[in-house]
Amino acid sequence: MAASPLFCTHFPGDPFNHSRPSKSRSRFRAALSETSAQKASDAAGDGGSRLPLREIPGDYGLPLIGPWSDRQDYFYKQGREEFFKSRMLKYQSTVFRANMPPGPFISGDSRVVVLLDGKSFPVLFDADKVEKKDVFTGTFSPSTELTGGYRVLSYLDPSEPNHERLKRLVFFMLSRRRDHVIPEFRRCFGDLLRTLEKEVSTSGKADFNSLNEQSAFNFVSGAFFGADPLKTDLGSDGPGLINRWVLFQLHPVLALGLPRLIEDPILHTFRLPPFLAKNDYRRLHDFVSRNSSPILEEADRLGISREEASHNLVFATCFNAWGGLKILFPNILKWVGRGGAKLHARLAAEIRTSIQKRRPLTESVVYEALRIEPPVSHQYGRARRDFVIESHDGAFRIREGEMLYGYQPMATRDPRIFDRPEEFVPDRFVGEGGQRLLEHLLWSNGPETKTPTAGDKQCAGKDFAVLAGRLLVAEIFRTFDSFDVEVSDGPLGASVTVTSLKRAHR
Ligand code: HEM
Repeated sequence: MAASPLFCTHFPGDPFNHSRPSKSRSRFRAALSETSAQKASDAAGDGGSRLPLREIPGDYGLPLIGPWSDRQDYFYKQGREEFFKSRMLKYQSTVFRANMPPGPFISGDSRVVVLLDGKSFPVLFDADKVEKKDVFTGTFSPSTELTGGYRVLSYLDPSEPNHERLKRLVFFMLSRRRDHVIPEFRRCFGDLLRTLEKEVSTSGKADFNSLNEQSAFNFVSGAFFGADPLKTDLGSDGPGLINRWVLFQLHPVLALGLPRLIEDPILHTFRLPPFLAKNDYRRLHDFVSRNSSPILEEADRLGISREEASHNLVFATCFNAWGGLKILFPNILKWVGRGGAKLHARLAAEIRTSIQKRRPLTESVVYEALRIEPPVSHQYGRARRDFVIESHDGAFRIREGEMLYGYQPMATRDPRIFDRPEEFVPDRFVGEGGQRLLEHLLWSNGPETKTPTAGDKQCAGKDFAVLAGRLLVAEIFRTFDSFDVEVSDGPLGASVTVTSLKRAHR
């Protein structure tokens, strides 16, 4: 398990980089000794828990009917949050059994143990206890025809030899052009803010999401490959192609807001034929492989075929990176926008004082957006062996082979960990007390205090994504004093319309 060659993504010139290696090393040591203590007590059979051992409440219902009925609750009768909250109240437990969509006929086995608190959730990061093979999208896996015939990195368990090689390749891609990240961001999102301002002044409002999709694609293409898609055959088609390709992968677990009688049979019962996405995917793959020669040369050195590497680069760029920013940026705009003029004035003052100084409030609002609304809500892992997990109130025996599922927004809104958990508190992560809470910030599939390595499943782009979030806030308040938004729910996060922008006069 070698450390990430990114070393915490020290992007030169990154005004936000304040890593404190000694502290994080001692935290890491503490985490390691906890793990060994846990192992010893697991061997004793009771998990060493001082909490009462409880039967996991809940049941899966009858075959086919139970999973179908839970799916109706999840998408249509209750909705996602209510689905989990009502069961948590019914069973008086943050750990219980339920079926997760899609169920029949897409997933063969939809039974999971649901984890809803910040204490039990991190078991999903423990590679000793859970296997992460083919669980990226949950209880089903999309056809590999959608990824060039390969099981790409996100679907590989760290015990598979290719996991380490491919993750190293992604680290290489991220660090190779690190000097270009900030300039590329300013170029792409400077354009976005100018367009936004023009649209708001002519039409009184502007849709942030569609502009963000194009700018985020231009940004990742520039930052990873030094390519401008608008100057290639792809033109402005990139975001549309990715959205369609992603739909073929995620439709079993998405609600698009269509009437249930149409949506449920078409999206959640059978797979859409992958060949229909072939042309879209080919264009994305052509763009990435034509512009990634130096990364493919590194793949040769790592012992990965260029073919396999290129499909992994498409996935890391288009699904992981672009998909992440497509959800994260509207979320940031939503929460910071709702924060109002006072918060905006404080952010603007902090951002305009000195480029070299720390920006604790800017850092904190990005973390807080990632806490209150983690862009990727679902994490899965299959128990490698029998062990005992603990919530705040009870201990539960997990059997080898059982699927564990964490709904992250409830783990990071755990009232036993965070004060006023349902509120967006801009200063939450400021100061020493705030920094201590970072251990419970889990958006990257690991604690924020940890650095991803080639031997774990933590997001390879963790530091890149946080930096990008901070750059977005900085770019906005360098240009504007304040802004207003209207927000509605989309299938993958917030849909944000900007309704006013007050330009900074300096
Ligand atoms: C806001 C943006 C992002 C979010 C919310 C996000 C979230 C995540 C999550 C939750 C996982 C783990 C999924 C699982 O196994 O259950 C993950 C994995 C991954 N992410 Fe990110 N990500 C973001 C940005 C990026 C970026 C910019 C990259 C850069 C290429 C990236 C590359 C990856 C890769 C390669 C993996 C698989 C890691 C492995 O299998 O070991 N992500 N990401």
